Amino acid sequence: MCGIIGFTGTAEAAPVVLEGLKKLEYRGYDSAGVAVVGKNGLGMVKASGKIENLCKKVEECGGVSGTTGIGHTRWATHGAPTDTNAHPHMSEDGRFAIVHNGIIENFAELREELIAKGCHFKSETDTEVIVHLLSLYYKGDFKRALMKTVARLEGSYAIGAVCSECPESIFVTKIFNPMIIGVGAGENFFASDVTALVSHTKNVIYLEDGEIAELTPEEIKFFNAAGKPIEKKISRVAWDTEAAEKGGYEHFMLKEIMEQPHALKSAIEPRIKNKKSVLSELNLSEEQLKGINHIIITACGSAYYAGCAGKYTIEKLTRIPVTVELASELRYSSPIVDEHTLLIVLSQSGETLDTICAMRELKDRGVHTVAIVNVVGSTIAKLADSVIYTYAGPEIAVATTKGYTTQVAVLYLFAVYAAEKTGRITSEEAEKLTAEILSIPSDIQRAIDLNSHIAELAEKYHDNSSLFFIGRNVDYAVALEGSLKMKEISYLHSEAYAAGELKHGTIALISEGRLVIAIACYEELFDKMMSNIKEVKARGAEVLGVAAEDMKKIFSEADDVILVPKTHPLFSVPSEIVPLQILAYYVAKANGCDIDKPRNLAKSVTVE
Ligand code: AGP
Repeated sequence: MCGIIGFTGTAEAAPVVLEGLKKLEYRGYDSAGVAVVGKNGLGMVKASGKIENLCKKVEECGGVSGTTGIGHTRWATHGAPTDTNAHPHMSEDGRFAIVHNGIIENFAELREELIAKGCHFKSETDTEVIVHLLSLYYKGDFKRALMKTVARLEGSYAIGAVCSECPESIFVTKIFNPMIIGVGAGENFFASDVTALVSHTKNVIYLEDGEIAELTPEEIKFFNAAGKPIEKKISRVAWDTEAAEKGGYEHFMLKEIMEQPHALKSAIEPRIKNKKSVLSELNLSEEQLKGINHIIITACGSAYYAGCAGKYTIEKLTRIPVTVELASELRYSSPIVDEHTLLIVLSQSGETLDTICAMRELKDRGVHTVAIVNVVGSTIAKLADSVIYTYAGPEIAVATTKGYTTQVAVLYLFAVYAAEKTGRITSEEAEKLTAEILSIPSDIQRAIDLNSHIAELAEKYHDNSSLFFIGRNVDYAVALEGSLKMKEISYLHSEAYAAGELKHGTIALISEGRLVIAIACYEELFDKMMSNIKEVKARGAEVLGVAAEDMKKIFSEADDVILVPKTHPLFSVPSEIVPLQILAYYVAKANGCDIDKPRNLAKSVTVE
């Protein structure tokens, strides 16, 4: 997800664009750029890193003058975050510059075609094909050239384009990605979302898929996909800037919980070809995969708990032993590894120092390292032999939600892919399992729809001083992550425990009124969990039961119940954890905690 913005008016464009980019930084912040149509043609400045770096660079080069400009803040998907890969991208003749949010899925063949036509590419991005096509099709009519260009594109895009020969015009168009026009007085704007516009105008127009708009300071013309003029209505934005950044949600964490269906789609769908999981990013041959006799998963915090969850599915399908190791422990444990060991490294940020150090240890021992990370071009991504990005989009809240669920989903894809490639499951079985993985986003949406019921439960339980999460098998892994979510944002003491282990000592802590959240979704051990619920109830505990929607027997024992969507037993974790994310969120809210920036925590722990 990237941020794009454009301005045309009477004021200098660069300051307006840079200010707008700062408001879009939460959408992506690994590189940025601005292009302005000036008296002597197009001026452009790009910089990797934060928007601040770009602002400094613009100042150092004496600024870019002109009253029509576009800007972009990047969340890299194709090509590392470098100045060259940053947007805007300019045509070779210097006539056009464009910014793009989205993914051009057929960029490889277009790139080949354009190179054959004599085009020279500077960047590794998919976006650059757009500006070369624009230049190729331009015969004096900007709109027509843009229409011919987008007719060649497959995938998703929101494009802003300027031309040195049309100093007051900006052309925009979109498919699947948002494009919002800001209607000002003697000035007009476009942006990825209202965040970058509300400080200038609350009168906005939402472009629909395929539509085109031409912005000039005094006028905005709209056209349908066939280039025919159309009328569009103005909407009034109700949000202020801060609310807009959070998409109207009170906190980034809630926004990121709610966008998990989209995040999971982004993580799963690009890796399904002909109904099967194809991890083309995995640089391991079938022979090498068959030679793996031990998988180590290493990470920290929630990423570690994602590994604990994925372990069950990987082992069940591949029959390869999986050990999940805390990175801060693994690096000092003189691990017993060899060329038949595979290391999977999980990290949302890709910058967690403990995880980097553990990874280096095993890499130095010749172990093949597979990174499952969210931030493109991060340290862990660069270090790894194979990188599988989760494509969850920027995660701003310190407490991870979509980062965790997308990691689990990629582990599921790996399990099915590796099981088929090593001959443990047939192609037909792989297809069936892949279809189950494809239904995870809709399962998660049904879990999110439990929101109001869970908010009521949070109201009831928010003032417990200490609580337990218990579960068996994969539900124990869910308990671990549910407990961490609760601790890190609500500051309540919480402990996750294997339900079958409670009686060996820790049950001494169960007293009158102690809240126990019993996760009983794993059908095979449901009756055992019912016994554990009876066990703690007999000692005065209050039990909040979490079970699959067809396990209504839990109502006979638990004081309150959350029924989660029924899924395939191998792929149940995402729909189990989402209600627990929501519970932690509302408990923390009831306790007046700083949900997005909890005390003592950092989004990425880059120290030991
Ligand atoms: C999770 O909510 C925490 N913010 C923390 O445990 C986090 O998962 C851990 O620090 C690992 O971060 P990473 O995924 O960026 O490596």
